Amino acid sequence: MIVNIKKENINLYDDNFIPKDYLINELENNPYSKILFLIKNNEIIGYIYYSVIYERVEINQIEIKLEKRNHGYGNLLIKELLKREKKDITLEVNENNYPAIKLYEKNNFIKKAVRKNYYNDEDGLLYERKYIIKNFTNKWDDKMKDMYILGIESSCDETSISIVKNGREEIATIISSQIDIHKDYGGVVPEIASRQHVKNITFVLEECLNKANMTMDDIDAIAITYGPGLIGSLLIGLEAAKTLSFIYNKPLIPVHHIAGHIYANSLVNELQFPLLAVVVSGGHTELIEMDEHYKFTKLGGTLDDAIGECYDKVARVIGLEYPGGPKIDKLAKIGKPTYKLPIPLHDDSYNFSFSGLKSAVINLVHNEKQRGNEIRKEDLATSFQKTAVESITSKTKKAIIDRKIKNVIIAGGVAANSGLREAMTKLTTELGVNLSIPSMKYCTDNGAMIAAAGYYAYKNGRIADLSLNSKSQDTLK
Ligand code: KG4
Ligand code: ZN
Repeated sequence: MIVNIKKENINLYDDNFIPKDYLINELENNPYSKILFLIKNNEIIGYIYYSVIYERVEINQIEIKLEKRNHGYGNLLIKELLKREKKDITLEVNENNYPAIKLYEKNNFIKKAVRKNYYNDEDGLLYERKYIIKNFTNKWDDKMKDMYILGIESSCDETSISIVKNGREEIATIISSQIDIHKDYGGVVPEIASRQHVKNITFVLEECLNKANMTMDDIDAIAITYGPGLIGSLLIGLEAAKTLSFIYNKPLIPVHHIAGHIYANSLVNELQFPLLAVVVSGGHTELIEMDEHYKFTKLGGTLDDAIGECYDKVARVIGLEYPGGPKIDKLAKIGKPTYKLPIPLHDDSYNFSFSGLKSAVINLVHNEKQRGNEIRKEDLATSFQKTAVESITSKTKKAIIDRKIKNVIIAGGVAANSGLREAMTKLTTELGVNLSIPSMKYCTDNGAMIAAAGYYAYKNGRIADLSLNSKSQDTLK
């Protein structure tokens, strides 16, 4: 609980940690002073003492009880302050107070100046956080006619921008893939990926608008993948989205990358609820249940590697280029399942595990090499694909039966896998449930899925302000 305490109430809290006399004095003599207390179970955990001086705020002090530090309480106080005081904020901090500096930087405070010997021998740093007031005019309104959303995706190695009408109809998509650059390294190199996004993003935007024969004035809102993904890559898309939102005064809609993959399906079929989303990508393997739009419940997920990651690693072991998933898929069509591999996490949960399968393939290749045997790549690809797909379908089957699911969708890059598409079609036909699979072009990362998800996110009231930050990791919610 965070409360604003008046001076006469400070004494209510009998706690040595609070410099009561000092704070009462400040509240009495400084008309601009305010104090927020963080209270848990009747105990003061921390406080923030600040001054609101006309159009700006100055943080004077923020303290968390020694034994309660490193629990995110400081962050809670700052977040509460940001919610209450919609103004520019400044503060001074000792150059050696790393936890405080980290806290401020995390909350978008920017170092503005160094004040030499401000704290005796130590320097003080002046930090500032600008509050930009933006009143987005076009909040969601059911009477609104057609909605054109610009979706920006840059979480990994694809810079992609699309325009999608009403969450379902793709108007234009441009994807600039970096695969040719990264394949020389056997995988995505984050630093190179970010630089490529910087180079590409304005051209991708221009091309997308040209292709759609539209201008930014025709766009109603901007949807952006804020995470998860490679932080440098995410930030490029995010900055582009924020800049466009600011300049053209368009609402900014934060989209979780996996929500994007799920909503890739709505570009093909209207989503029917309740549904089970089988999320299979380079970074995720999850079973998600949805009762309505934009309400996600995770049933289970991978305990270690994602399935796409496993495909790519196995591909590398047998000498296939990045990304190996599609190449294994191709080979798997011509081979026979002659190699025996363990079925991963063959249990009663909704979870997956792919690192054991990956190790089993590595060991198998290693042992065959030592014996001087040639690896039959196509047979290994078939054996691996059969095992990986079986792991997904067996857990999906369990979820469909247990949860009485009627609609299943597949989402993520591995949804492009022919073995999985086939096995899921067979399974859902057998169980008499509906299956939706995105068309191939919407399986791997693209801006259209972000724009589609953005439409439903917007409808659900999800709008971000310009303090939106990228997150390399974040659960789908
Ligand atoms: O969804 P995505 O584009 O990126 C992430 O969000 O992770 O998925 C990329 C992953 C890569 O691991 C790639 O190898 C895999 O999807 N992938 C495939 C196939 N096409 C792409 N894996 C198996 N079979 C495919 N046909
Ligand atoms: Zn993806």
